Amino acid sequence: MIPKETIDLIFETARIDEVVGDFVQLKKRGVNLLGNCPFHDEKTPSFTVSPAKGIYKCFGCGKGGNAVNFVMDHEHFSYPEALKYLANKYNIFIEETVRTPEQEEAANDRESMFIVSNIANEYFQDQLFNSDEGRAVGLSYFKERGFREEVLKKFLLGYSPEKSDAFSAHALKEGYKIEFLEKTGLTIPKGSRNYDRFHGRVMFPIRSLSGRVLGFGGRILKSNVKAAKYLNSPESDIYHKSKVLYGMYYAKNSIVKKGRCLLVEGYTDVISMHQAGIENVVASSGTSLTIDQIKLVKRFTNNITILFDGDAAGLKAALRGVNLILEEGLNVKIVTFPDGEDPDSYAKKVSSEELEDYINNEAKDFIEFKCSLLLEEAKEDPIKRAELIKDIAATIALIPDNVARTVYAQTSSKILGIEEQVVFASIEQSRSGKAKSSSKPMQVVFSSPKQGQKLDAISTNLEELTLIRLIIIYGTFGLHFEFENENGEISETTITTAEYIISELIEDDIQFTHPKYNKIYSELINYFNEHESIPEEKHFIQHHDPEISQTVSQLLSDKHQLSDWAKKDIMVPTETEKLKDLVEEAIIRLKSKVVKLKIEKMLEQMKSDELTNDDRVKLINDFQKLTTLSIHIGKKLGREC
Ligand code: CTP
Ligand code: MN
Repeated sequence: MIPKETIDLIFETARIDEVVGDFVQLKKRGVNLLGNCPFHDEKTPSFTVSPAKGIYKCFGCGKGGNAVNFVMDHEHFSYPEALKYLANKYNIFIEETVRTPEQEEAANDRESMFIVSNIANEYFQDQLFNSDEGRAVGLSYFKERGFREEVLKKFLLGYSPEKSDAFSAHALKEGYKIEFLEKTGLTIPKGSRNYDRFHGRVMFPIRSLSGRVLGFGGRILKSNVKAAKYLNSPESDIYHKSKVLYGMYYAKNSIVKKGRCLLVEGYTDVISMHQAGIENVVASSGTSLTIDQIKLVKRFTNNITILFDGDAAGLKAALRGVNLILEEGLNVKIVTFPDGEDPDSYAKKVSSEELEDYINNEAKDFIEFKCSLLLEEAKEDPIKRAELIKDIAATIALIPDNVARTVYAQTSSKILGIEEQVVFASIEQSRSGKAKSSSKPMQVVFSSPKQGQKLDAISTNLEELTLIRLIIIYGTFGLHFEFENENGEISETTITTAEYIISELIEDDIQFTHPKYNKIYSELINYFNEHESIPEEKHFIQHHDPEISQTVSQLLSDKHQLSDWAKKDIMVPTETEKLKDLVEEAIIRLKSKVVKLKIEKMLEQMKSDELTNDDRVKLINDFQKLTTLSIHIGKKLGREC
């Protein structure tokens, strides 16, 4: 743990222009600085840095945040890693707070395991390049497969000798403890002897996001032995197979730049693609993706292209694995290779340009791919076709985004040559069967023409966003109110914008539902309870929770500042003059939306057969109250609500 005071000091000291300036060439443009965005490819600069506010924002790709966010984003650091980086840059000493003895021991154990893995990696590399056996067996194997020396070095590939305890003996002689050799799975003690897990294999180290060696894959060289082709490190405190993607350390920057992650099956596919100049590629190591691996990809992009080996046998089974990816909201494309080829062999057969073109041209959208594949199989068989529609609909039903689901329903209805409504109905069936508890109204999917409006109608995101923005920018501004007291006298009062919003929302027991906005709102309340004052804009921009600081930086620099109804005059002076109106209207709008949603939900509940009479009476009462409130709000807004 880094002490809070040190974190504060780091935030105070780090200058956004200097921090960004280490990675991006910035030119002065008015009060701001401008450069080419490091997060996406662009020719005209739209990456803006505001030294005054301490934030950056790209108007091309939308990335934004404070100095810490920048380092996290650019270097793919975790929050503590980013803080350490900045502390180092500004010579700030970090004294980590004490850990419990257990935590200390666990941390030390893990550290020792990292050290041992690293030593093993150095040993295997040394064997590959500098030992007679390694050169004769390992290096010549790699050369024969067409791997160039620079790529072997880049991926830290190595060789583990035939002798059954070569590495263990070496490590023990160097003074490394058997405990950690065993915990990493590199050594397997049997009786009084220690055996190497890997021997007579070429070695592929598996690295973490920040490049540390976590474990190994070892490939056997002889084709006539019965042993498994690949042997992998066992699960350990530092290696969790299901959370790692092979090659991510090398791929992450390219994935962000290209806006796409290519997924292959094997270690050698990743390496060959790199050799061919394609770097946004990772491997699942022969299995279908786990949730954690999908989340890992999602940190860098929402677009994934899966490259399947030519042998189409396992293709259909593999397609099932894709469901999990769709469920996570990723866009999936599929590339298949000619029969008998995998990305590794194909990359060596054609030029780099041809490979890149092949991937770009052959990539088919997953749903379309699945439709065509199944259609080919079903032909005109009516029963098979009915199955197929169900199958496709079930897949589309997994996609969380309403708009994407609708588009896919339409596309697949075209490909399959059936009525859209049939696909829609089948999707609905699948969804309602899957998640009975889900309260999302299904009719949204059917509304193709005025999608935007209808989607808006089911959430309060826009209203919440407007209020959060008012709180952050104008939270400390005073609003002036005049009111009549019981004696009929006019009195006046001034209250800050934020306090006014808080009191209004508490009165009607309204909470924020969008997780990010709710976090900011809760932070406001906590701060207010603790300090009895409203935090400045800066408090949010420099907030230690990167999600808060990032959301806020985003809001502050957004071009479309207010939602539609206030779009007429966005200029700041006008906005401050009209502040009171804006605040009141924003509050009313949120309340109105909340009431509408409650009414909708209630109508839904009333349809249920399981209601008792008491339930029904209560519902009708609540319903009447809400309708009255809704009419009242409508009048306040001065229009039909
Ligand atoms: N794999 C494994 N254990 C095995 C076989 C495969 O862990 N017994 C994993 C490896 O990560 C391997 C991936 O599955 O990279 C894909 O397997 P395969 O296509 O058989 O291997 P390739 O990577 O193509 O290796 P090579 O080209 O050397 O045959
Ligand atoms: Mn292969």
